[in-house]
Amino acid sequence: MTETCIASAPGKLALFGEHAVVHGRHCIVTAIDKRMWVKVTRSNQTILTSKQMGLYNYIIKDGVNYPKEVAYVARAIQRVSGYLGRPIKAEIETWSDFSADYGFGSSSAVTVSIIKALMCMNDLELNDKTLFELSYGTVIDVQGRHNKSGQPLASGFDVAAAIYGGTIDFSKNEVVVPLRSGQIPLLVAYSGSKASTVELVNRVTELCLDHKVFCEALFNISDQIVQLAKGALAVENWEELGKLMTINHGLLSSLGVSSIKLDSLVSASINAGAYGAKLSGAGGGDCIIAIVERDTRLKVENAIKREGGTIINVNLNAEGARIDKKD
Ligand code: MEV
Repeated sequence: MTETCIASAPGKLALFGEHAVVHGRHCIVTAIDKRMWVKVTRSNQTILTSKQMGLYNYIIKDGVNYPKEVAYVARAIQRVSGYLGRPIKAEIETWSDFSADYGFGSSSAVTVSIIKALMCMNDLELNDKTLFELSYGTVIDVQGRHNKSGQPLASGFDVAAAIYGGTIDFSKNEVVVPLRSGQIPLLVAYSGSKASTVELVNRVTELCLDHKVFCEALFNISDQIVQLAKGALAVENWEELGKLMTINHGLLSSLGVSSIKLDSLVSASINAGAYGAKLSGAGGGDCIIAIVERDTRLKVENAIKREGGTIINVNLNAEGARIDKKD
């Protein structure tokens, strides 16, 4: 009988199509080489330890309203227990290679890792589709749905990135399509503030209930950008990819999710020689990404730093969810 399993899943960066993906359009997302890790050990009680969250032997029980960070773990355990048809008891430890402030999808990565680790402890290996259904279900349990449209607030693209890894074309209604696997000359910078994804998705959904025609047009352009970006990625046309990013940033600004800081980091990158740049993720804060050739990278990095941004070094196309240890 398996006593202990360690599982991990990568964080993500949204390259194109965020927000529109919540409304059924395509997006491109890449898995990064910074991971969330979960260790589960068979036990007679369920307790969580996460040094990064300041939690030590925190008791997890059904029916308790946990803070967001713990809620993903608690709901994931409930989903696994529902799937297996029996209660799950385990000592759980989580740790991360990256700060939850960056918007790299730590909640989805921890959800996927914990479900994978608990299944491993029960000597089961789920196929990717079932792992996605359980993980996405958990994320919807925690993030909820829009109160008027009833639509889930999460598209599931970050769950897909955590499971499949690589760089993928994702849409809610279709299968995940893997894209090229080489490195992209991408620069990532943290804006210095964390934003609430749920709040921003709610805000856009609200705006779009009142201005359906405009939003549909913006989402359709976003979808076209994704299609063009797939072509540019395939032939490594970085200049075109950069231009498409800048247009995508403009769309996201029109939806009201950019900020003075994000706009200034995007402008600074482009003025210093980047082919293009955009916010990445929900907006409001978190990170920007820019397409930058090697010879202009230092100049762009310095321009970003002058605007108060912090360069984050990540590699793309990382491996998806995996079992790292089983005893
Ligand atoms: C957040 O990283 C990206 C959004 O599109 C939300 C989602 O797709 O779940 C804003």
